Amino acid sequence: MLIDIIAGARPNFIKIAPLIAAIKKSKAEGENIDYRLIHTGQHYDKNMSDSFFEQLNIPFPDVNLEVGSGTQAEQTAGIMIGYERVLLDSKSDLCVVVGDVTSTMACAIAAKKLHVPVAHIEAGIRSNDIRMPEEINRILTDSITDYFFTTTTGAGENLKKLGVSEDKIHFVGNIMIDTLRAQEASFRAPSVWSEKDLKDKSYFVLTLHRPANVDGERALKETMSEISKAAMPYPIVFPVHPRTRKILESLELNFPNLIYTEPLSYLEFNYLVKHAKGVVTDSGGITEETTVMGIPCITLRDNTERPETCDIGTNKLIGTSTEFIASSIEEIKNDNWKKGGIPDKWDGQTAGRIVSILNNLL
Ligand code: UD1
Repeated sequence: MLIDIIAGARPNFIKIAPLIAAIKKSKAEGENIDYRLIHTGQHYDKNMSDSFFEQLNIPFPDVNLEVGSGTQAEQTAGIMIGYERVLLDSKSDLCVVVGDVTSTMACAIAAKKLHVPVAHIEAGIRSNDIRMPEEINRILTDSITDYFFTTTTGAGENLKKLGVSEDKIHFVGNIMIDTLRAQEASFRAPSVWSEKDLKDKSYFVLTLHRPANVDGERALKETMSEISKAAMPYPIVFPVHPRTRKILESLELNFPNLIYTEPLSYLEFNYLVKHAKGVVTDSGGITEETTVMGIPCITLRDNTERPETCDIGTNKLIGTSTEFIASSIEEIKNDNWKKGGIPDKWDGQTAGRIVSILNNLL
């Protein structure tokens, strides 16, 4: 059984690392299972891609489609053309896609049209915000998926409402947490730690990259100014996503307690998060990691496809306006934040569950 594993963007790399390790283990134990790693090249920098491969021990990709930057349609088309060629040359038995990025959707479509079955890891989650490219990717991918692997029972319920039969839905837990648990002991301080003399629980971490937050210059300026004021006197470390950097460069925004860095590697970023007083973000994956590490997290979005990070975990949604920034940061500074718990099956064992299901199914 040959499985194509698709990875294109930074959050994908974190999800495929434990899957590949589990497939290798299963193969070594005598199962008839093997994989081909397809990197679409959606993310291609050292900071956005290579460092993840090195630190998470992901093998060199068998194929790199090198799609690079472009509009949504350009990337989708480039990935579909590239992956279709790979499949026409040599078909696999299953295409495994993870998450909700452009590469996820594009490869699922290319595979399905050539009658290669599709498995989707992190299926069924929905923000119900169709303006997000990721939501469109989730809906389209799930509409042609054969095997649904879900992080929560809520995701399974979403799929059932769409008419997916129960036997196709496998509640396996959160594969990102496999990586977190496996790497936790290796987290290491980034250079900014000593350069800025950072101390445990004495700074905030900020990440912003969603179009709704960073594409409007005035709104971005107001958001950052409000965060900076509210966090005073704590420093804020802001590893800047390339998409945000392009906008920030033209704005020349500087605040006394704001520390800009390049995008950080996995081990360095999560070291910073683990030791932070709190995190302010618009990412989805980071809210899962802060939930598991018990770090207070403020999400600058109006909705989330990961409600369990708010209902069970340490995350709170405060919207994209600046209204609740000051009061929320104040709560964290005063140690008044909820403690939170960890969702079911976010236990570091998800990849093993997926591979044993695949071995039975195929
Ligand atoms: C993508 C995902 C998003 C995910 C995010 C994580 C989609 C629709 N979005 O958004 O879900 O949360 O990745 O990072 O798939 N760039 C570089 N170097 C790189 C990669 C990108 O400079 O290695 C630049 C590109 O030129 C582009 C910008 O960053 O201008 C955005 O990259 P892109 O992959 O289009 O989408 P993201 O915003 O990163």
